[in-house]
Amino acid sequence: MDQPRPETAGATCPFADTARAQPPRPAPRPAHVSLVDWLRYFRRDILSAQPERLYRARMAEFRTPFFRSFLCNDPDLVDLVLSGRPEDFPKSTRLFEGLAPLLGHSIFLTNGEEWRRQRRIVDPAFESGRLREIFPAMWDATRAAVDRLAAVADGRPFDAEPHTGHFALDVIFRALFSIPVEDATAQDIFTAFREHQRSRPLVNAGSLMGLPRWAPRLHGRRTRATAARIRKAIRTLVDQRVAQIAAGTAPDDLATRLMTTPDPVTGTLFSPEDMVDQVGIFVLAGHETSASALAWGLWLCARFPDWQDRVADEARAVIDPETIYFSNVSKLKLTRATFNETMRLYPPVPMLLREAAKDERFRGREVPAGSQVVISQWHLHRHERMWPDPHGFYPERWLSDEGRAPARHAFYPFSAGLRVCPGSAFAMTEGVLALAMILRHYRVETVPGHDPVPVAQLTVRGRDGIRLRLTPRET
Ligand code: HEM
Repeated sequence: MDQPRPETAGATCPFADTARAQPPRPAPRPAHVSLVDWLRYFRRDILSAQPERLYRARMAEFRTPFFRSFLCNDPDLVDLVLSGRPEDFPKSTRLFEGLAPLLGHSIFLTNGEEWRRQRRIVDPAFESGRLREIFPAMWDATRAAVDRLAAVADGRPFDAEPHTGHFALDVIFRALFSIPVEDATAQDIFTAFREHQRSRPLVNAGSLMGLPRWAPRLHGRRTRATAARIRKAIRTLVDQRVAQIAAGTAPDDLATRLMTTPDPVTGTLFSPEDMVDQVGIFVLAGHETSASALAWGLWLCARFPDWQDRVADEARAVIDPETIYFSNVSKLKLTRATFNETMRLYPPVPMLLREAAKDERFRGREVPAGSQVVISQWHLHRHERMWPDPHGFYPERWLSDEGRAPARHAFYPFSAGLRVCPGSAFAMTEGVLALAMILRHYRVETVPGHDPVPVAQLTVRGRDGIRLRLTPRET
C-alpha cells in the first residue's frame, strides 16, 4: 500500500464545532462468555454477539467446536482477502445456505467458474451508461414514495422500514420488469418476501455448524413454502418476458438486458431457470439493503435536525419536484455525504464471510484451510484506530479530502474487488435521490423514548423497527 495507514485513536473530531451525541449501537457482549452463551448471543443477533475490543483490534480469532474464524480489521488483510488474492478466499456460504431454497444458484451464492460466467452477464447490465437509462424508473418510484408518505405525514409515530422497503422494491420492479410494485405479481412477491424473512432462513443449524456439503440441509417448512411461492411468481414474470422478447415487444429494461446478453466467453444466455435465481437475488440484495440505508438515513436526519435542514435546503435548490435530470443527482453533495455517513454507521451488509481455500498466515498466526475469514464492515467503519470520533454522526467528514481519507482503507459498504456489489452505483443514485426528495417534502422527527436498536437480520435493521414522525414542509 502506498498510503500510510491512518492512526487516529484519541483524535478529537475535526469536522464540527459542537460535538454531536452518538447515535445508538448495540451493547457489546461481555469479553468472556461460555460457548452456550455465545451461541445464545449469536442466535439473537450477530452484532450484539461481538465484544467491544473489536472496535480497536486489528485481528481476532474465534474458536468454536464447529469452526475457527478470523475477523480481519487490518487494512492489508482486508485488501488481500477482497482484492489481492480473492480466488484464495472464496465466498463462504455458511451463513447463507439457509437462503438456498429461495436463491438456488444465484450469483450471490456461487463461486468459481459458475460465478464468473454469471458475473460476465450481469456486469454489463449495470454499466454507468445503463444507469442513466434506468434513472426515469427511479424518479417515478421516488415520486410515488413521496405521494404515499402523505398518508402518514400527520405527526404521529410510524415505522419507516415498511415504507422504505416498499419504495426500494418498487425501484427494483420498475428497473427490472418495467412494472410498479402495485402490479399483482409484484405484490405477491412483496408479501411472500415479508413472510420468508419472518421464517428466519439464516438461522440454519446444518450450515452454521459446517456439515459436509453432501449432508442434507433441513430448511423449515415456512422457509420452503414462502421460497417456492416467490420463485413461482418470479417465474411468471420471466415467462412473460421470454414471450415478449420472442415477439419483439420487450421493454429495454434490466430483465431484457440480462436475458439477451450472451456470456462473451461461452456465448450462452441465462436460461429462464437461471433468471429465476438471479431475479431472486436482485430483488433481495437490491431492496433489503437500500431500504435499510434509507430508513437509517431518515432517522439520523431526524436525530440531528440542524443537519436535516441543510439537506432539505440543498434538495430544494437542486430538485424541481416535477422533473429532474440524472446529472442533477451529482449536485446533491450534502445528501451524498449524509448517505455515506449513514452507511458508515449502519452498513446495510454488516459482515462479509469468506473461507480460506488453503493454509494461510495472518499477522504471524496460522490460519488453517477451511477457516472462516470475516471482514466486518460494522467494526471497520467504526474502527477507533482509523476514524476520528468513529461512533459520531459527522457527514461533514465526507466533504474534505482529509475527512474522507480513512475511507480508502476502512469503508466497504459495497465490498470491494471481484465480488464488489454490481448495484453500487444504482444504489447510490437511488438512495441519494430518495433521501433528498423525502426531506424536500417532509420534516422528520424522532419519537422520544424509541431510539432504534440496530440488529443484523438479512441487513442491519431496527430491533423494533425505525420509528419516526413526519410532517409536510413548507415548499
Ligand atoms: C445500499 C444498497 C446496497 C448495499 C449496501 C449493497 C451491498 C452489497 C455487498 C456488501 C455485497 C457483497 C456481499 C458479499 O460479498 O458477501 C453485495 C453483493 C451484491 N449486490 Fe449489492 N448492495 C446494495 C444494493 C444493491 C442493488 C440495488 C443491487 C441490484 C439491483 C445489488 C445487487 C447485488 C448482487 C447481485 C450482489 C452479488 C454479487 C456477487 O456476489 O458477485 N445490490 N451488495
